[in-house]
Amino acid sequence: MGESNTPPSVRADDVVGVAGVAGVAGAAHLALDGVCKRFGALRVVDGISLRVAQGETLGILGPNGAGKTTLFNLITGDLRADAGSIVLGGQDITRHAPHRRCRLGIGRSYQIPQPWGAMTVFENLVAAASFGAGKPEAATYARAVDILGETGLLPQANRPAASLRLLDRKRLELARALATEPRLLLLDEIAAGLTEAEAALLVDELRRIKGQGITMIWIEHVVHALLAVADRLLVISQGKSLAEGAPAAVIEDPEVKRVYLGLEA
Ligand SMILES: Nc1ncnc2c1ncn2[C@@H]1O[C@H](COP(=O)(O)OP(=O)(O)OP(=O)(O)O)[C@@H](O)[C@H]1O
Ligand SMILES: [Mg+2]
Repeated sequence: MGESNTPPSVRADDVVGVAGVAGVAGAAHLALDGVCKRFGALRVVDGISLRVAQGETLGILGPNGAGKTTLFNLITGDLRADAGSIVLGGQDITRHAPHRRCRLGIGRSYQIPQPWGAMTVFENLVAAASFGAGKPEAATYARAVDILGETGLLPQANRPAASLRLLDRKRLELARALATEPRLLLLDEIAAGLTEAEAALLVDELRRIKGQGITMIWIEHVVHALLAVADRLLVISQGKSLAEGAPAAVIEDPEVKRVYLGLEA
C-alpha cells in the first residue's frame, strides 16, 4: 500500500481540524503532531497526527503490526517518541516520564493483561489508586471498593489476580486504569477473546464510563463492539494514518476494506 493510494477524501490531514466534532471546539484534550517511532530500520509509527476532543471516544483499527500499541506506548511514555509532539490538555508531555503522565490523567489497559498476579484484586486497585492517582491510604480503599462495584469485580475482590478467568482479567485491566482516575483512558484490545455476551457487557461498561465525560481511545479488532462506542475512527496501517472520520464512512472506505478488512473494493 503506497501513500498515493490513500483516498484524498479521508486523509488524516484533512480531518485534524474537526476535533470539535464531539461538541468541543478549540483546544483538543489530546493532540499528536508528526509523532514517529522506529525500531532499528523499521518505522513503526511514521508521522501520526491526531486530535481527540474532551469526552470523545476515538476508535483505532488497523492490521496486526500496524503500530497501534506502539502509539499507545508513546502517549503513556512507556516509549519515547523519536520525533513529533504530544500535548495533553494544552501541556506538552512529549518528554514526560510515564508516572507524570499518569498523574496528569492518562490511564491505560494493556493488550496482554498485566495484573500484579500474587496480589488480590482489591490490592491491585488500592495500589493503582495509591501510585497512579496519588491518593492517601484511606481514600485508596474507598476508591477501590467503588471500582469493584462499578466493574462487577466485587465477588472476586479477595482472589489473587493471577487466578482470574479472562473476562475478569480484562475487567481488572479496566478497573486498575480507572483507579488511577484517568481523564484520558487508553484501551488496548480489551474485547479480544471475549464471548459475544461478555463483549456486550464490556460495551455497556464503556458507555457508562464515556457518560462520565472521560475521553477514550480504544484500539480494537472486534469492530462491532468498537462501533457501539466510538464517535470517530482512525485506521492505522504501516505506522501511518490511512483513514479517519465518522465510523460509518471509515468502515465503507474502499482502501480500509482492502487493507484492513481484506475485502476487495
Ligand atoms: N520494543 C520493540 N522492539 C522492536 N520492535 C518492536 C517493538 N515493539 C513493537 N515492535 C514491532 O513494531 C511493529 C508494531 O508493533 P505494535 O505492537 O505496535 O503493533 P499493533 O498494531 O499493536 O499490532 P497488533 O494488532 O498485533 O497488536 C511490529 O512489527 C512489532 O514487531
Ligand atoms: Mg497491539
